[in-house]
Amino acid sequence: MGRPSIDPVHLQGEFEDPLSSLQASTEPKFSSIRLALQNFDMNYKVQFGDLWPSIRVSLLSEQKYGALVNTFSTWDQTTHELEQLEAKDFVMEAQRRGQQKVFPEEAVTPVLPPELETHPHLAAPWPCSPNLRCYTFTRGDISRFHPSRVGSLGLLDYYLMDASSLLPVLALDVQPGDSVLDLCAGPGGKTLALLLTGCCRHLSANDISGSRTRRLKQVLHSYVPQDRSQVRVTSQDGRKWGDLERSTYDRVLVDVPCTTDRHSVLEEDNNIFKRSRKTERQMLPMLQMQLLVAGLLATKPGGVAVYSTCTLSHLQNEYVVGGAIDVLANQYQTDVQVEDLSCFRHLFQDTFSFFPSCRMGELVLPVLWANFGPMYFCRLRRLT
Ligand SMILES: C[S@@+](CC[C@H](N)C(=O)[O-])C[C@H]1O[C@@H](n2cnc3c(N)ncnc32)[C@H](O)[C@@H]1O
Repeated sequence: MGRPSIDPVHLQGEFEDPLSSLQASTEPKFSSIRLALQNFDMNYKVQFGDLWPSIRVSLLSEQKYGALVNTFSTWDQTTHELEQLEAKDFVMEAQRRGQQKVFPEEAVTPVLPPELETHPHLAAPWPCSPNLRCYTFTRGDISRFHPSRVGSLGLLDYYLMDASSLLPVLALDVQPGDSVLDLCAGPGGKTLALLLTGCCRHLSANDISGSRTRRLKQVLHSYVPQDRSQVRVTSQDGRKWGDLERSTYDRVLVDVPCTTDRHSVLEEDNNIFKRSRKTERQMLPMLQMQLLVAGLLATKPGGVAVYSTCTLSHLQNEYVVGGAIDVLANQYQTDVQVEDLSCFRHLFQDTFSFFPSCRMGELVLPVLWANFGPMYFCRLRRLT
């Protein structure tokens, strides 16, 4: 099957306002939420078939969170408290599952020696960035975490995020001593996770928006000890990065702006389905592709970039990846290969529901028993 690429005819359908023919300027306005839902009903029914009604209900229902443990703070106390709440470290659980896969002849879960319990990254091959600990409530448990608190070191104890947001960081497979670029970093949840791997020799965190970089700096201030000399925060257009720092980074995260599907069906505020933002919305796949191209140009040959979004839209996911690979090959004579991440479906099956039919990358689907996502992520290796 051929690689999907951006097709302007498709783009028009997906980014059209389904109600535009019904709504003259003098008629009462439809809310942005309603426009988003109409758009999704039209497009995602085609994309997901029978799965769409349950995804839709989940998008409209309360989202679940994960508590990313701040290992710069008093993390042993934090993990103890989270375990008292019967929350589970889903990263550790995935690691255990990975161990089972490595030793299939063992019928029962291998018992890890104590040193591996506290340093899970030392356990057998782990295809992910190390040292991250993130707690969620188990399937069907809709308990909430209390807001994070300042520990005895003056740092907040955990960062609350959609737990599926950690998957792109895990997929980046950051290694000790890596130089890392986070191209669209604000407000900073994934930047913090990258730092918590303890692997970044140098981390550049960029976001075009000044208010988002301010929030990012606040996150760093609240979670990371004062010596942050390995972190550089910038506020540039990420599309320029291929010229600014070509072939520089071992790892690049390209977590692009998108239709933020969950937000779009729940909040009027800052909704990309507002009529006034129609052109911006229509241009999203182009912006996403340009950011991914820039991110891959900034990656060293042999290095890795991860592309991620929080939309279900294949036009903003696989099609953007396909388009970027074509642009890099044709305009920059740069070869890039999509890496297989299907092991994620196995490793994280107890925590997330994955769409089984992505041609490139992986997609977490919101479902009622695990109401995380949507989260799409795709790992690309720059070959030349
Ligand atoms: C999905 S959010 C990133 C979330 C962030 N990675 C996190 O985990 O907290 C996308 C970000 O892209 C930024 N952005 C939009 N256009 C950009 C551009 N041309 N260059 C760099 N950043 C851009 C937006 O300001 C927004 O903060």
